[in-house]
Amino acid sequence: MRVPFLDIPGQYKEVRHLIDPAIAEIMETGAYVLGKWNTQLETELAQRHGVKHGIALNSGTDALRIGMQAAGIGPGDEVITTAFTFVATVETIVQVGAVPVFVDVIENTFDIDPDLIEAAITPRTKAILPIHLFGQLCDMPAIMDIARRHNLMVLEDAAQAIVTSQDGVMAGGFGICAGVSFYVTKNLGAAGDGGLLLTNDDEVARRSKSLRVHGMGRERYYYDEIGYTSRMAELQAAVLCAKLTRLDAWNERRAEIAERYQAALADSSYGIPYIRPNNECTWHQYTVRHDDRDAIMAGLKEDGIDSAIYYPVPLHLHEPYAHFGGGAGSLPVTERVSKQCFSLPVGHHLSDEQADYVIQRLLARQSVTA
Ligand SMILES: Cc1ncc(COP(=O)(O)O)c(C=O)c1O
Repeated sequence: MRVPFLDIPGQYKEVRHLIDPAIAEIMETGAYVLGKWNTQLETELAQRHGVKHGIALNSGTDALRIGMQAAGIGPGDEVITTAFTFVATVETIVQVGAVPVFVDVIENTFDIDPDLIEAAITPRTKAILPIHLFGQLCDMPAIMDIARRHNLMVLEDAAQAIVTSQDGVMAGGFGICAGVSFYVTKNLGAAGDGGLLLTNDDEVARRSKSLRVHGMGRERYYYDEIGYTSRMAELQAAVLCAKLTRLDAWNERRAEIAERYQAALADSSYGIPYIRPNNECTWHQYTVRHDDRDAIMAGLKEDGIDSAIYYPVPLHLHEPYAHFGGGAGSLPVTERVSKQCFSLPVGHHLSDEQADYVIQRLLARQSVTA
């Protein structure tokens, strides 16, 4: 049996009756940027997330960079985050002139360990940037408490956490702003790149809207600050609005498959993800840990099952970011899970039979390699 990691064309087939006419209309009218589809996407997602503003952008990376800049993070500021993330989290901290400060993660949730944050705070610390990895929110009560006590901002990397909540509060409802990604493989994926900044802060919203068009102010060709080209194409916004009609159903199916995995692997030698009881997980990835990861993944490949590693090498061990960290051994949990983790197919395209086959092969492979 073949178990692919993703089925992107399959998503299109489900909503092509919405996408095709929208694309034709955009092409015929020539309204290619900052039009009605952008507005619809921004409005619907701000509402879903319970925040005042949604600002559609070119990518999740831009949402983080523009959000940081709009929130006033800049040269000399330190931003506390983790090295177990996609590079964009840390790249954008550096791009706004700030300094990333890495703390370790929690082994079975892969996200920032709040118990380690306070020791990393210095007089230069301006913000904490938790990453809601793999579709569940970080321990936000603990993080917000630390931020309040030390007068720090919190910016959420919600790239992998669209419509994902904790205690009923959606990503973006905790910090000053949050960046969402619509990269192709995300739970809500564009036909290319796209991102969204979510914020309750009117000033951050105003500055972000200006920064996405070169820092232009209210008047055309008059500039308030140095900005970017970061508009979302109407074609992308239309694709996203179409897929948004199916997102809840797709996420429900992801949860069914993940629960199947959780139950079947609970007593195995795999370290399974821990979902905080107050979290509604949207399972962007289903990620397990095993000391024999590479052999198991090779075996799964022979079995026709795709798997992938997010992320094989933590950022403090990459040359461009090494000088921000303390070198090998400085983040023991991060370094260990990077060697153990691998993600299994969990998309809504999977049948029960395919999920059961993945489980059966995983269990068989563990005894071979044990
Ligand atoms: C954790 C994380 N942060 C940031 C990003 C950047 O998003 P994008 O690829 O849309 O620029 C991604 C997605 O790729 C991500 O997974």
